[in-house]
Amino acid sequence: MSQRDVRIAPSILAADFRKLGEELSSIEEGGADWVHVDVMDGRFVPNITIGPFIAEAVRDATSLPLDVHLMIVEPERYVDDFVRAGAHTVGIHVETCPHLHRSVAQIREAGARACVVLNPSTPASSVEHVLDDVDQVLVMTVNPGFGGQKFIEGMLPKIETLRRWIDERDLDVALEVDGGIGPETIGRAAAAGADVFVAGTAIFGAPDRKEAISALRKAAEDA
Ligand code: DX5
Ligand code: ZN
Repeated sequence: MSQRDVRIAPSILAADFRKLGEELSSIEEGGADWVHVDVMDGRFVPNITIGPFIAEAVRDATSLPLDVHLMIVEPERYVDDFVRAGAHTVGIHVETCPHLHRSVAQIREAGARACVVLNPSTPASSVEHVLDDVDQVLVMTVNPGFGGQKFIEGMLPKIETLRRWIDERDLDVALEVDGGIGPETIGRAAAAGADVFVAGTAIFGAPDRKEAISALRKAAEDA
Protein backbone atom coordinates (compact mmCIF):
# COMPACT_ATOMS: atom_id res chain seq x y z
CA MET A 1 0.00 0.00 0.00
CA SER A 2 1.14 3.38 1.05
CA GLN A 3 4.56 4.46 2.16
CA ARG A 4 3.30 4.37 5.73
CA ASP A 5 5.42 2.31 8.12
CA VAL A 6 3.43 -0.56 9.59
CA ARG A 7 3.97 -1.17 13.29
CA ILE A 8 2.74 -4.29 15.08
CA ALA A 9 2.08 -4.07 18.82
CA PRO A 10 1.21 -7.42 20.44
CA SER A 11 -1.09 -7.08 23.45
CA ILE A 12 0.20 -9.05 26.43
CA LEU A 13 -3.37 -9.41 27.68
CA ALA A 14 -3.44 -12.64 25.65
CA ALA A 15 -0.02 -13.83 26.88
CA ASP A 16 0.59 -16.59 29.41
CA PHE A 17 1.46 -14.62 32.56
CA ARG A 18 3.04 -17.66 34.20
CA LYS A 19 5.93 -17.14 31.79
CA LEU A 20 5.70 -13.50 30.84
CA GLY A 21 9.46 -13.18 30.27
CA GLU A 22 9.46 -15.95 27.66
CA GLU A 23 6.34 -14.55 26.05
CA LEU A 24 8.00 -11.15 25.70
CA SER A 25 11.14 -12.72 24.21
CA SER A 26 9.02 -14.59 21.67
CA ILE A 27 7.49 -11.40 20.30
CA GLU A 28 10.72 -9.45 20.41
CA GLU A 29 12.50 -12.21 18.48
CA GLY A 30 9.42 -12.52 16.29
CA GLY A 31 9.82 -8.96 15.03
CA ALA A 32 7.24 -6.99 17.05
CA ASP A 33 7.70 -3.22 17.04
CA TRP A 34 6.10 -2.33 20.37
CA VAL A 35 4.47 -4.18 23.27
CA HIS A 36 0.91 -3.13 24.10
CA VAL A 37 0.06 -3.07 27.82
CA ASP A 38 -3.67 -3.06 28.67
CA VAL A 39 -4.42 -1.40 32.01
CA MET A 40 -7.97 -1.97 33.30
CA ASP A 41 -9.45 -0.82 36.59
CA GLY A 42 -12.78 -2.62 37.01
CA ARG A 43 -14.50 0.78 36.78
CA PHE A 44 -14.16 2.20 33.28
CA VAL A 45 -14.19 -1.38 32.02
CA PRO A 46 -15.39 -4.49 33.87
CA ASN A 47 -12.02 -6.22 33.97
CA ILE A 48 -8.99 -5.61 36.24
CA THR A 49 -5.53 -6.24 34.85
CA ILE A 50 -2.15 -4.57 35.10
CA GLY A 51 -0.72 -1.82 37.31
CA PRO A 52 2.55 0.14 37.17
CA PHE A 53 4.34 -2.62 39.06
CA ILE A 54 3.81 -5.16 36.26
CA ALA A 55 4.51 -2.53 33.60
CA GLU A 56 7.90 -2.03 35.24
CA ALA A 57 8.58 -5.77 35.07
CA VAL A 58 7.64 -5.75 31.39
CA ARG A 59 10.03 -2.85 30.78
CA ASP A 60 12.83 -4.78 32.48
CA ALA A 61 12.11 -7.93 30.49
CA THR A 62 12.11 -6.44 26.98
CA SER A 63 13.76 -3.74 24.93
CA LEU A 64 10.55 -3.09 22.98
CA PRO A 65 8.87 0.27 23.62
CA LEU A 66 5.82 0.02 25.92
CA ASP A 67 2.54 1.24 24.44
CA VAL A 68 0.41 1.64 27.58
CA HIS A 69 -3.37 1.75 27.11
CA LEU A 70 -5.11 3.15 30.19
CA MET A 71 -8.71 1.93 30.47
CA ILE A 72 -9.19 3.56 33.86
CA VAL A 73 -11.20 6.42 35.35
CA GLU A 74 -9.26 9.58 36.23
CA PRO A 75 -6.20 8.47 34.24
CA GLU A 76 -4.36 11.70 35.09
CA ARG A 77 -3.83 10.27 38.60
CA TYR A 78 -1.64 7.50 37.19
CA VAL A 79 0.08 8.98 34.14
CA ASP A 80 3.27 9.84 36.01
CA ASP A 81 3.46 6.39 37.63
CA PHE A 82 3.22 4.63 34.27
CA VAL A 83 5.80 6.91 32.67
CA ARG A 84 8.14 6.18 35.59
CA ALA A 85 7.40 2.49 35.07
CA GLY A 86 8.71 2.78 31.51
CA ALA A 87 5.79 3.75 29.27
CA HIS A 88 6.99 5.06 25.92
CA THR A 89 3.43 5.97 24.93
CA VAL A 90 0.49 6.58 27.26
CA GLY A 91 -3.03 6.29 25.84
CA ILE A 92 -5.96 7.89 27.66
CA HIS A 93 -9.62 7.45 26.79
CA VAL A 94 -11.47 10.57 25.67
CA GLU A 95 -14.48 9.33 27.68
CA THR A 96 -12.48 9.52 30.92
CA CYS A 97 -10.98 13.00 30.39
CA PRO A 98 -13.14 16.09 30.91
CA HIS A 99 -10.01 18.21 30.34
CA LEU A 100 -8.51 16.25 27.48
CA HIS A 101 -6.13 18.93 26.25
CA ARG A 102 -4.67 19.31 29.75
CA SER A 103 -4.31 15.56 30.22
CA VAL A 104 -2.51 15.23 26.89
CA ALA A 105 -0.07 17.96 27.95
CA GLN A 106 0.50 16.13 31.23
CA ILE A 107 1.61 12.99 29.37
CA ARG A 108 4.11 14.91 27.25
CA GLU A 109 5.41 16.82 30.26
CA ALA A 110 6.00 13.50 32.00
CA GLY A 111 8.14 12.51 29.02
CA ALA A 112 6.00 10.07 27.05
CA ARG A 113 4.24 10.09 23.68
CA ALA A 114 0.61 11.13 24.11
CA CYS A 115 -2.17 8.99 22.65
CA VAL A 116 -5.92 9.69 22.76
CA VAL A 117 -8.23 6.68 22.60
CA LEU A 118 -11.80 6.54 21.27
CA ASN A 119 -14.41 3.99 22.26
CA PRO A 120 -16.49 2.66 19.36
CA SER A 121 -19.35 5.01 20.27
CA THR A 122 -17.12 8.11 20.45
CA PRO A 123 -16.90 10.12 17.21
CA ALA A 124 -13.69 11.26 15.49
CA SER A 125 -14.73 14.87 16.11
CA SER A 126 -14.06 14.40 19.85
CA VAL A 127 -10.29 14.52 19.20
CA GLU A 128 -10.23 17.03 16.36
CA HIS A 129 -9.21 19.86 18.72
CA VAL A 130 -6.19 17.98 20.09
CA LEU A 131 -4.87 16.45 16.86
CA ASP A 132 -2.06 18.99 16.73
CA ASP A 133 -1.05 18.14 20.31
CA VAL A 134 -0.88 14.34 20.26
CA ASP A 135 1.52 11.72 18.94
CA GLN A 136 -1.08 9.04 18.35
CA VAL A 137 -4.81 8.38 18.07
CA LEU A 138 -6.17 4.94 18.93
CA VAL A 139 -9.48 3.88 17.42
CA MET A 140 -10.97 1.01 19.43
CA THR A 141 -12.38 -1.60 17.07
CA VAL A 142 -14.08 -3.47 19.94
CA ASN A 143 -15.65 -2.22 23.17
CA PRO A 144 -12.70 -2.25 25.56
CA GLY A 145 -12.44 -4.65 28.47
CA PHE A 146 -11.57 -8.05 27.04
CA GLY A 147 -9.38 -9.72 24.45
CA GLY A 148 -10.71 -12.04 21.79
CA GLN A 149 -13.68 -9.96 20.65
CA LYS A 150 -14.95 -9.45 17.12
CA PHE A 151 -13.71 -6.52 15.03
CA ILE A 152 -16.44 -3.87 14.55
CA GLU A 153 -16.55 -3.11 10.82
CA GLY A 154 -18.46 0.12 11.46
CA MET A 155 -15.22 1.70 12.75
CA LEU A 156 -13.67 1.87 9.26
CA PRO A 157 -15.22 5.25 8.31
CA LYS A 158 -13.89 6.73 11.58
CA ILE A 159 -10.37 5.52 10.73
CA GLU A 160 -10.73 7.02 7.23
CA THR A 161 -11.83 10.38 8.64
CA LEU A 162 -8.91 10.55 11.07
CA ARG A 163 -6.45 9.55 8.35
CA ARG A 164 -7.80 12.32 6.14
CA TRP A 165 -7.44 14.95 8.88
CA ILE A 166 -3.90 13.79 9.76
CA ASP A 167 -2.81 13.90 6.11
CA GLU A 168 -4.57 17.18 5.30
CA ARG A 169 -2.85 18.87 8.22
CA ASP A 170 0.41 17.05 7.47
CA LEU A 171 0.70 15.87 11.08
CA ASP A 172 3.15 13.37 12.50
CA VAL A 173 0.43 11.39 14.30
CA ALA A 174 0.28 7.60 14.35
CA LEU A 175 -3.16 6.03 13.83
CA GLU A 176 -3.60 2.89 15.86
CA VAL A 177 -6.35 0.25 15.92
CA ASP A 178 -7.03 -2.19 18.75
CA GLY A 179 -9.48 -5.07 19.06
CA GLY A 180 -10.23 -8.06 16.84
CA ILE A 181 -7.19 -7.41 14.65
CA GLY A 182 -6.10 -10.58 12.84
CA PRO A 183 -5.13 -11.78 9.38
CA GLU A 184 -8.71 -11.35 8.11
CA THR A 185 -9.31 -7.83 9.44
CA ILE A 186 -5.94 -6.06 9.44
CA GLY A 187 -6.04 -5.37 5.70
CA ARG A 188 -9.29 -3.41 5.94
CA ALA A 189 -7.99 -1.36 8.89
CA ALA A 190 -4.76 -0.63 6.98
CA ALA A 191 -6.63 0.32 3.80
CA ALA A 192 -8.75 2.72 5.88
CA GLY A 193 -5.54 4.41 7.05
CA ALA A 194 -4.33 2.77 10.28
CA ASP A 195 -0.58 2.28 10.67
CA VAL A 196 -0.20 0.79 14.18
CA PHE A 197 -1.91 -2.53 14.85
CA VAL A 198 -2.54 -4.03 18.27
CA ALA A 199 -3.17 -7.77 18.28
CA GLY A 200 -3.52 -10.05 21.28
CA THR A 201 -5.20 -13.33 20.36
CA ALA A 202 -3.87 -13.33 16.78
CA ILE A 203 -0.28 -13.29 18.08
CA PHE A 204 -0.20 -14.92 21.51
CA GLY A 205 -2.79 -17.49 20.42
CA ALA A 206 -0.50 -18.58 17.57
CA PRO A 207 2.15 -21.25 18.18
CA ASP A 208 4.72 -19.43 16.03
CA ARG A 209 4.83 -15.74 16.98
CA LYS A 210 7.28 -14.81 14.23
CA GLU A 211 5.01 -16.30 11.60
CA ALA A 212 1.95 -14.60 13.09
CA ILE A 213 3.63 -11.18 13.24
CA SER A 214 5.03 -11.51 9.70
CA ALA A 215 1.64 -12.54 8.32
CA LEU A 216 -0.05 -9.55 9.96
CA ARG A 217 2.62 -7.17 8.71
CA LYS A 218 2.39 -8.51 5.17
CA ALA A 219 -1.40 -8.30 5.11
CA ALA A 220 -1.23 -4.67 6.30
CA GLU A 221 1.48 -3.74 3.81
CA ASP A 222 -0.34 -5.38 0.90
CA ALA A 223 -3.67 -3.72 1.70
C1 DX5 B 1 -9.29 -4.60 24.69
C2 DX5 B 1 -7.81 -4.33 24.73
C3 DX5 B 1 -7.08 -4.92 23.56
C4 DX5 B 1 -7.13 -6.42 23.52
C5 DX5 B 1 -6.91 -6.88 22.13
O1 DX5 B 1 -9.90 -3.94 25.72
O2 DX5 B 1 -7.56 -2.94 24.69
O3 DX5 B 1 -5.76 -4.45 23.50
O4 DX5 B 1 -6.19 -7.01 24.35
O5 DX5 B 1 -7.10 -8.25 22.07
P1 DX5 B 1 -7.51 -9.02 20.73
O6 DX5 B 1 -6.45 -8.74 19.72
O7 DX5 B 1 -7.58 -10.43 21.16
O8 DX5 B 1 -8.84 -8.45 20.30
ZN1 ZN C 1 -5.52 -2.17 24.26
